[in-house]
Amino acid sequence: MPRTIVAGNWKMNTTLTAAVELAGAVAQGAGKAPEVELILCPPAISLAAVRDAVGVSLVAVGAQNMHFADSGAFTGEIAPPMLRDLARYVILGHSERRQLFGETDELVNRKLLAALQHDLRPILCVGETLQQRESGQAAAVIGRQVRSALSDVAIADLGSLVVAYEPVWAIGTGRAATVQQAEEVHASLRAILRAEWADVGMEPRILYGGSVSPHNAREFFESDEINGALVGNACLEPEGFAKICEFAS
Ligand code: PGA
Repeated sequence: MPRTIVAGNWKMNTTLTAAVELAGAVAQGAGKAPEVELILCPPAISLAAVRDAVGVSLVAVGAQNMHFADSGAFTGEIAPPMLRDLARYVILGHSERRQLFGETDELVNRKLLAALQHDLRPILCVGETLQQRESGQAAAVIGRQVRSALSDVAIADLGSLVVAYEPVWAIGTGRAATVQQAEEVHASLRAILRAEWADVGMEPRILYGGSVSPHNAREFFESDEINGALVGNACLEPEGFAKICEFAS
């Protein structure tokens, strides 16, 4: 049974000082839930400080994005080898990257291949918009996103992959998917991933994300289909985040 994952996506929040404080508070509480795999994804500028603040605790660090190239003339971007010493995970294909920064399935695939090449574990985000759900296209959209992101990925590399189902309409809206809605999508994702994983006998880890809070987290973790949560807003508040981790353990 893989450990339940609780990942906090801080997005573009926290100054350096606030990041160190928040990471310290989370790391301090992490010992209470050793069976949970905790991942903090601060803004890139705070990665080194957060890595130092979590120290030897059980908390892992993740980046929120990266470029696919090893180096080069890409002003403002961060290359995989730069992340290597700072983070174990990297979120890729978040819907905010797709919607606000024009990231395509093809770009997400290039980033995913680069992450694996540099021993960074991808947290691949997929999810449909409200319009896509209402017009019955959710399964097709998510299937396309995941297949495309995994194109040319070696089966041996799939073991380090984490997938996060994040319906766009649930992110930051306070309107989480129901457990049943999440389970349906997770089951279809699992079927796609199992087809790839069959040879390595690995269980794909699929997280739910989108308005996860201390009020609804328990229900999600009770489902066998849901291997953890990717948390946005609620991870910025240490007590609420600790509560979510407690439910996961
Ligand atoms: P939210 O964000 O928890 O604030 O909805 C989740 C995410 O975007 O990963």
